Amino acid sequence: VITALLVSVGCGSSETLKDGIFTPAEWTAVMALSPMPDHPPPNTTNMYADNPQAAALGQKLFYDTRFSGPILNQDSLAHNGVGAPGDVGKVSCQTCHQAPWFVDFRSMPNQMSLGNDWFPRNATTMVNTAYYTGWREWEGVNDTIWTDACAGSEVWTSGNGSRLAAAHLLYDHYRDDYNAIFYPPLDPSLDANAPDAARFPADGKPKPSPDAPDGAWEMMAPADQDIITRIFVNRGKALEAFIRLLVSRNAPFDQYVAGDTTAISTSAKRGLRLFVTQGGCNACHAGPTFTDEKFHNLGVPDTYPAGIMGYDPNLWSFFTNLLDTGHAGGPPYAMNNPLSRDGVYSDDTTTPLLKNLTVTDADMGTYRTPSLRNVAMTPPYEHLGQFAMLEDVVRFDNMGGGTPGMGFPGTKDAKMKPLNLSDGDIADIVAFLETLTGEQVDQQYWSGQPNP
Ligand code: HEC
Ligand code: HEC
Repeated sequence: VITALLVSVGCGSSETLKDGIFTPAEWTAVMALSPMPDHPPPNTTNMYADNPQAAALGQKLFYDTRFSGPILNQDSLAHNGVGAPGDVGKVSCQTCHQAPWFVDFRSMPNQMSLGNDWFPRNATTMVNTAYYTGWREWEGVNDTIWTDACAGSEVWTSGNGSRLAAAHLLYDHYRDDYNAIFYPPLDPSLDANAPDAARFPADGKPKPSPDAPDGAWEMMAPADQDIITRIFVNRGKALEAFIRLLVSRNAPFDQYVAGDTTAISTSAKRGLRLFVTQGGCNACHAGPTFTDEKFHNLGVPDTYPAGIMGYDPNLWSFFTNLLDTGHAGGPPYAMNNPLSRDGVYSDDTTTPLLKNLTVTDADMGTYRTPSLRNVAMTPPYEHLGQFAMLEDVVRFDNMGGGTPGMGFPGTKDAKMKPLNLSDGDIADIVAFLETLTGEQVDQQYWSGQPNP
């Protein structure tokens, strides 16, 4: 009698609902989000990607400030920059990617990536970044981690260094480490006392545009340029080997999916259900990495509306006028980048990412769907750090994203519709996002001692 009563009252649901909450279809959607694979997928464009010696060298390089050029930003010190204007050798990768979550908690205000100059983007975490298989950065401009490491080392906003200076530094401080991994070994003419040392000037990189005046780099023989660029790329490949070790898995959410019903709170479970149902979040934040690796325009304003995170509109006038093209700028750059995965310095030019690239109006103002792994540890949020808290993001999504006139380029993604979430629903989704914080990366990677 009792059994019959239960079935008739509950319409059978209490027996079939997973953990009393999820229908079979909903649970299938949940299971698609976990677990994270043990290791990042292989990167065949870097034959040293999983070479432990390269990773050990990469760790030293990641924490070595000597590769950076002069600080350009005039108010650097006032904004918790790492040196005064003109200071050389102050910026390393960790300047903007600080352990344990490898994001910027330093730049003032708002962690907006003050290196040699303002880098008007919210620094993406290095933790689990090797799980992205395609485009790099918010807007998808570089196409491998090593490509990114090279670009960031030379661009004035980030490292403002040069590949010639980098080759000399490697020769002077890392010669044995380098030669134990890479072939050919570092060219002996990089020695300052070599008879033909003049082949390799102390400093120089390709000029920024064809109409810029020639520099020391343009005076070099093409074969010597190739020697230097290969060394510079190998440095990037060693950095990638290190970054591939920065893995965080086994979040409370994963433990829950694996069967521990006590691993996350009831609120988080409700949030998880909303994530895969009414919120529609997994349409883009898909799979165990919580990203489709595609580009979408959510209408996040590129200007800083008064009141958001205490921005000073005078200070940020440069950014206020910024109209960021998003992914529309990525493919044209990548196709002309000699350091891309399809270029001569790649170890595998057959991967599909850059084949048959096109750019359409729909790419304007789009950004790569970010992974949501460890997202509670990496505020602020969105490509310019527009939002201070996870709740701000979910409230924004609940409105269906931005509204025209808010100050974003391009056309908003059709998937972005008002969600009719209540305040309680929003709190539940935030509670769920907080269950995505995995184990911290191994402490041995939080710092590194560069070679003297
Ligand atoms: C001035 C601050 C700064 C410094 C220094 C810096 N980065 Fe970054 N990094 C950023 C920012 C900001 C982004 C996001 C850029 C964007 O999306 O436009 C980023 C993105 C990246 C990415 C792309 C990750 C992804 O999500 O695809 C990689 C890889 C990376 N950095 C590696 C490095 C390495 C290696 C170094 C040292 C050689 C370095 N960075 C130095 C600020 C910095
Ligand atoms: C149409 C695809 C799409 C949908 C649907 C979507 N997102 Fe996103 N999400 C993105 C993109 C793209 C960004 C980055 C946007 C930017 O910076 O301009 C983002 C950013 C975020 C961020 C900030 C991450 C960071 O590191 O800064 C969070 C948190 C987030 N989304 C959560 C959610 C939640 C929760 C939902 C469902 C309510 C959702 N998203 C729905 C594509 C999507």
